[in-house]
Amino acid sequence: MKKYIDKLNSVVNLEELEKLRIEIFGKKGVMAASFAKLKNLAGDEKKSFAAEINTLKKELNDILNQKREFLKEKEIEEKLKAEGVDVTLFDAANESGALHPVLATMDKIINYFLNMNYEIQEGPLVEDDFHNFEALNLPKYHPARDMQDTFYFNDSMLLRTHTSPVQIRTMLSKKAPIRMISPGAVFRRDLDLTHTPQFHQVEGLVIEEGDKVSFANLKFILEDFLTYMFGDVKVRFRPSFFPFTEPSAEVDISCIFCEGDGCRVCSHTGWLEVLGCGMVDPNVYKAVGYENVSGFAFGLGVERFAMLLHKIPDLRSLYEGDLRLLEQFK
Ligand code: DAH
Repeated sequence: MKKYIDKLNSVVNLEELEKLRIEIFGKKGVMAASFAKLKNLAGDEKKSFAAEINTLKKELNDILNQKREFLKEKEIEEKLKAEGVDVTLFDAANESGALHPVLATMDKIINYFLNMNYEIQEGPLVEDDFHNFEALNLPKYHPARDMQDTFYFNDSMLLRTHTSPVQIRTMLSKKAPIRMISPGAVFRRDLDLTHTPQFHQVEGLVIEEGDKVSFANLKFILEDFLTYMFGDVKVRFRPSFFPFTEPSAEVDISCIFCEGDGCRVCSHTGWLEVLGCGMVDPNVYKAVGYENVSGFAFGLGVERFAMLLHKIPDLRSLYEGDLRLLEQFK
């Protein structure tokens, strides 16, 4: 029996210890066997043997308990060591990412208008003919409706070609006053240096009852917005045409590459076109059943803003997922 003292002392893990415990103290263990022997003894012999095995039992039990505590602690220590962090290791897994430049630009644009108390409105990417074209005064014969320009599902459903249909949805769902922007993806059949089949726009719409909204209001907000976006640039409004606004204008900023001197990017004009705008066309009001209101609308391409802000020459590089480009935006 004494050999179990040595055995206990040489155990190296809890599993082995448990096996040994059963071997010693289990129902069929050596301790039970020793106590069984007592039956065959009598008198002094029985007394002394009983005293002996009781002492041994206590001793083995003490060793067992000590050993168990020791091994438990050892196991915890080993576990901690194994899970420990080596702070000298290069930590590739935890490298931080960054917002994609298009998303970051979108956020910057949205922030301006949220601060000006505009609401964000959203509409479906799969639109119908009425909201995308008809109600925006783009009648059936309009060239923008061409199969060449638009992804159609059938005669009446299509991928929206601009965010302007959200103007219509908003006006149909509530009355003036309206002060909204609508950021989101749009789709066109287009692919070259400055066009991708999917891109992003932010639409803006402000409507008030009566004749409160003027072109001066439109001019003020867009000049202020473009200064917020691009810093100290000149802004100019050029007469233009959009079916859903009258009068309409395109807005240019002085070229941020050559500061207006003329370069390749601005085709030597000194100006870069950045958005379209105008006073909402009466035909649009008619389509949504609005009367006696005034308002303006504008629309811009987010990718174009991102390219200008970060001087990115090829639009397609925004969608290639090349880490060498993306890493520059951390
Ligand atoms: N929807 C136009 C486009 O996709 C952009 C636009 C121009 C929106 C003028 C407007 C606007 O609201 O007034 O090219």
